[in-house]
Amino acid sequence: MTRRPIGELRSQRWFASDDMRGFAHRQRTQQMGLRREEFLGKPVVAIINTWSDLSPCHSHLRDRAEAVKRGVWQAGGYPVELPALSVGEVMVKPTTMLYRNFLAMEVEELLRSHPIDGAVLLGGCDKSTPGLLMGAISMDIPVIYCPAGPMSSGQWRGQKTGAGTHTKKYWDELRAGNITQGDWVDLESRMTRSIGTCNTMGTASTMTSIVDAMGLTLPGASSIPAADSGHPRMASLCGERIVEMIWEDWKPSRFLDAKSFRNGLVTYMALGGSTNAAVHLIAMARRANVDLTLDDMSDMAGRVPVCANLFPSGEYLMEDFYFAGGLLALLKKLERHLDRDGMTVNGKSLGENIAGAECWNDEVIRGEDNPIVPLSRGKTLALLRGNLAPNGAVMKSSAANPKFLKHVGPALVFDNPAEMNRTIDDPGLDVTEDTVIVLRNAGPVGAPGMPEWGNLPIPKKLLKQGVRDMVRICDGRMSGTHYGTCILHVAPEAAVGGPLGLLRTGDLVELDVEAGRLDMKVDEAELQRRRAEWKPTAHVYGRSFAALYQRHVSQADQGCDFDFLSAPGPVVEPSIF
Ligand code: FES
Repeated sequence: MTRRPIGELRSQRWFASDDMRGFAHRQRTQQMGLRREEFLGKPVVAIINTWSDLSPCHSHLRDRAEAVKRGVWQAGGYPVELPALSVGEVMVKPTTMLYRNFLAMEVEELLRSHPIDGAVLLGGCDKSTPGLLMGAISMDIPVIYCPAGPMSSGQWRGQKTGAGTHTKKYWDELRAGNITQGDWVDLESRMTRSIGTCNTMGTASTMTSIVDAMGLTLPGASSIPAADSGHPRMASLCGERIVEMIWEDWKPSRFLDAKSFRNGLVTYMALGGSTNAAVHLIAMARRANVDLTLDDMSDMAGRVPVCANLFPSGEYLMEDFYFAGGLLALLKKLERHLDRDGMTVNGKSLGENIAGAECWNDEVIRGEDNPIVPLSRGKTLALLRGNLAPNGAVMKSSAANPKFLKHVGPALVFDNPAEMNRTIDDPGLDVTEDTVIVLRNAGPVGAPGMPEWGNLPIPKKLLKQGVRDMVRICDGRMSGTHYGTCILHVAPEAAVGGPLGLLRTGDLVELDVEAGRLDMKVDEAELQRRRAEWKPTAHVYGRSFAALYQRHVSQADQGCDFDFLSAPGPVVEPSIF
């Protein structure tokens, strides 16, 4: 590719101008101890860092920022580190989803308002990947995503333990009386063995793998464990490559297209990835001006079976996946579904990047002829519509008990999690394995932020009977590390008048996954009567980010982005003054 002249770089508007402003920019940079020749005439690379002391998955990103800087200096650039909102999943209440768009706005504004020519984005925990990339796609300057990497494999008493997946599993065993309080405390220190994101195919690895296949990371970067020495080497390479990308003006609008998203979808389905990705991918596609709908995802889910044998759909961990050949080996096995011409940050096509990929363990990385879950038994993403979800609801049918995929049962409806938690373990609760548990007002506006409440608890009295799965319905989301017959993202949500708000305890609910249906067996006249009586109950925020969020967020099937940000448009460059 041809190299742009230095005068075309946006940073030169700050540093090269021969006026008082230019003087101040040069003067103030030298105030920080840099020599003129260390930054003048060089591409300026932002390292957007989501490190925080309250974000365990990102605890190593300060070190990785140093590795990126090393690569940038080596390649003749000038690295500058800019902190951004961390959105660490485990500590943020009610949910980091409330702040995904906030992070996207922050990234866009950081890049827009500063003398930045290109960026390396450091993130990994769930919402950080879409948040960082949504902002960067809107800003449209050269960017590379540097994923934090999954943590090392955990074990407890000889059994593999995966972050999230086994927390939920052992929590149910504790409530059922099958493990002791001492066991539970012992587990605390054993599951999460190292730095890095969850070691299961949760939302973090789903999203980092998808954007890897879309060409937004260095090839295969998403599979490198955080604690592996290859990880800082990958970070350094990101720094080196971003400088070349700046000279080439290799920005998202030049390669991120429908082909990229198609490759992302193939990856999503083959991984048995998190339902959360459905929301994030639509939001990212809209920023990139690519048409993508839940129907496109459902269509791909019907073609590509789950081939990665990883928790929660399978039985291995991310470190096993890496040693088996990682994402590139998986993509090589699924080559016929991919658009091999999709271009990537290294300037090569996906087809070129996977050409030499090899699989070292066919049990961990399966082919279509030997999937973890055959398509006839379940899919990564099943799309449901009906009078309970006119605009769609999703479920991971590959992680559900097959006997529930066609089911009719009476609803047990909760209006909020506090009510549910007060009641669910009552020994006198009128509930059987056939009951359909419902939690509403957990959507984008209602909660707000659509928290991961959707893996609704199994009542204790049923746990004691050995029940481990039931049909559950929620207008919120579910952790990608979880499993079960959980119907999620019901749209429109109850809080904005969606029909989930009309359902009552005792109404029959019918689920037919093969037919793609989710209905309440209530006649239309009765529904009309209930609709006339319905009143919004969600708390309306008058201040804080939640107020902005409630006013502008779209529904789950539209990606939950803000109405004023989702449409692509020209970035308004700051005035020179
Ligand atoms: Fe951060 Fe799972 S909690 S990746």
